[in-house]
Amino acid sequence: MASEIKKIGVFTSGGDSPGMNAAIRSVVRTCAYLKIECVGIYRGYQGMIEGDFKTLDARSVNNIINKGGTILKSARCEDFRTKEGRQKAYDQLIKEGIDAFVVIGGNGSFSGALLFNEEYGFPVMGIPGTIDNDILGSSYTLGFDTAINTVVDAIDKIRDTASSHNRLFFVEVMGRDVGHIALNAGVGAGAEEILIPEQNLGLERLLESLKRSKASGKSSSIVIVAEGDKTGKNVFELKEYVEEHLPIYDVRVSVLGHMQRGGSPTCFDRVLASRMGVKAVESLLEGKSNLMVGIRDTKLVLTPLAEAIKAHTEIDEELIRVSDIMTT
Ligand code: F6P
Repeated sequence: MASEIKKIGVFTSGGDSPGMNAAIRSVVRTCAYLKIECVGIYRGYQGMIEGDFKTLDARSVNNIINKGGTILKSARCEDFRTKEGRQKAYDQLIKEGIDAFVVIGGNGSFSGALLFNEEYGFPVMGIPGTIDNDILGSSYTLGFDTAINTVVDAIDKIRDTASSHNRLFFVEVMGRDVGHIALNAGVGAGAEEILIPEQNLGLERLLESLKRSKASGKSSSIVIVAEGDKTGKNVFELKEYVEEHLPIYDVRVSVLGHMQRGGSPTCFDRVLASRMGVKAVESLLEGKSNLMVGIRDTKLVLTPLAEAIKAHTEIDEELIRVSDIMTT
């Protein structure tokens, strides 16, 4: 064991995502396997500042691999943005005897970990946990696969009623500033149109596409809209716009919202989480720090946190082309 790490902290931070519990379970079980103590830190950096800790052993994480959400709770923490807040957090960790931590979260959580390491030299390792799939350095973030399956299931249900009433539905999905959820779930659910932030194709094109759908005999349509879409109209305004310009359509709206953040993680997310937890703990014990565990071409890779937080992952242009062809 290259490092003198004897006690590892683990916490979840930022928007929760399915698979976080599986990752917590993996970190705890890997520590137990390697005879390292593990401490759960509740409510992210806020709990760290408050010393809200609980020792976790292999049995503490029974029956959670299949549970959405996070047993350690999550939070966004303004105090950690201050030097005083980070100092309090550091003092709490030292008092508890924690030598390193694994943060399961998104860009914001990793930025905090990186700053903390720069200020205190404290070993940190990141696991990408967000449904947005927007973190450089990993083809998949924990929760993305579960979220797109949730969205596809919801759209399949909406399509039942849309086709019964010959209606057009605008379905808004999450993803913050990126369109990965909308694009992948849109293709998977056979949406007639997919509006994503990475492409602003304009309202005229949308009208033309809807006209073509009608002319080709489609009696109902689903348009999936990423919440960060750049048309300049929210889904309710899009409904009004289409009703005004294409009165042939009977239009409804469905905003899926936070249901996309919940649910039992898919096997893909559970396996990914289990792999990432082992890699994160073993990397810390090898003396590594300031890295994020990711997956590329089915292999686990380590990316400097400074790289991972630089930008969002690119949209898949080939998938956009597939989507365009599928709307023929
Ligand atoms: O980052 C995950 C995410 O679900 C985004 O897709 C969404 O825009 C945001 O979190 C919602 O944040 P909150 O949970 O604070 O409402």
